[in-house]
Amino acid sequence: MDAVRIYGGNCLKGQTKIQGSKNASLPILAATLLIDGTCEITNCPDISDVYHMLRLLESLGCVVSREADMLRVDTRGIAECDMPADSVGVMRSSIMLLGALLARMGEITMEYPGGCVIGKRPIDQHLQALRRMGVEISEEPEEFCAKAGRLHGAVHELPFVSVGVTENLVLAAVLAEGETVIHPAAREPEIQALCDFLVSAGGKIKGAGTDRLVIEGVKKLHPVRFRVPADRIVAGTWLAACLCAGGSVFLEDAPCGQMESVLACAEKLGARLRRLPEGLHVEGRACKGLKEDLVTAVYPGFPTDLQSLFMAAIAFSGQDGRIEETVFENRFRIVPELEKMGADIRVEGNRAYVRGGRKLRNTIVEAKELRGGAALVVAALAAEGTGIVTNRHFIDRGYEDIARSLRDLGAEIELA
Ligand code: UD1
Repeated sequence: MDAVRIYGGNCLKGQTKIQGSKNASLPILAATLLIDGTCEITNCPDISDVYHMLRLLESLGCVVSREADMLRVDTRGIAECDMPADSVGVMRSSIMLLGALLARMGEITMEYPGGCVIGKRPIDQHLQALRRMGVEISEEPEEFCAKAGRLHGAVHELPFVSVGVTENLVLAAVLAEGETVIHPAAREPEIQALCDFLVSAGGKIKGAGTDRLVIEGVKKLHPVRFRVPADRIVAGTWLAACLCAGGSVFLEDAPCGQMESVLACAEKLGARLRRLPEGLHVEGRACKGLKEDLVTAVYPGFPTDLQSLFMAAIAFSGQDGRIEETVFENRFRIVPELEKMGADIRVEGNRAYVRGGRKLRNTIVEAKELRGGAALVVAALAAEGTGIVTNRHFIDRGYEDIARSLRDLGAEIELA
């Protein structure tokens, strides 16, 4: 069965190691296309989104092998631009291959990318920005074709901050002729990781971590070995689990420095935290109310990827809370499922009003996307009785083994 079974109602106690970051691994794997030779990527998580990205790379002619947590990607055999439509369809990050493939091959035809159903998620800004760098794009209803000679640098004044657009432009610019400016660039730590990878391979990028990136195109990059940083969203997921169920846990390698908005919110909800260089100690549970709204925003604001997990925590907090989602318009798909468990949540446009202090009871609920699915598992840990979360494949996109990690933290949970 494609599900998780949870025996709820126990406090957590234990320790788990945070896996490598999904959202850093995917653009870094795309970036290997820019390098002729073999790159070694360590701490790459063993999740289905990475698997799909590797399949895409293989379909282009790359040779990929995995040894424990190290992936080797040899790009010397790249020959084609024919990618399996099912992998492009399930994963939005396949759009990341566009900038890199144009830089390497000059031409690509691909289906429109998929990913979680959390809003319209258009790719208009990706295409518009690449046109500025000399790419000709023809759009058909099912697929589009992009062509370029050598890409040239451009000044991109973007209408809003986008993680994916920033990454795609960095990938397109690093081997382009001349200078590229991206403003406002997204400042997410995953972009910093991508820039670190490219700089270690010989790229020239200034301003990583700020809202203005300046990239001077170079002729060639060289193979490197690179370690993917820990996943701040996975760390935030286990933190939310502790907020819901209560207890005392240690999250080894949690990147506390990248999580301040999340940690501050957890503290307001009543958790006691210790930020250490080697990880994060969490004690207690959500017991206080949030005085202000929880508003999602681009980094360093509260990440939209943790919004549904904190919605679950507020539902257990004993006090009411308000959430405003400003990044994706469709990120409240978890609400009807939490309601099946007894939660009381009213949605008005991009705001959700969560009534705290309701007793939640486990039942069968359905994951509809990655983080919402994880949030249902986390909520089930604290609810009474035995629960089932179906559609586990959504959760497997981003978590190596959600049941194993939560068992490390003392939960009674199994894959079903
Ligand atoms: C990335 C993350 C995702 C995270 C999101 C926001 C990866 C693989 N995914 O997604 O987990 O939730 O950042 O932090 O790293 N938009 C357009 N046109 C475009 C591109 C985006 O309108 O061409 C809109 C989107 O619909 C959305 C907003 O811009 O409303 C932000 O999206 P973006 O930052 O691009 O998110 P992703 O890169 O898709």
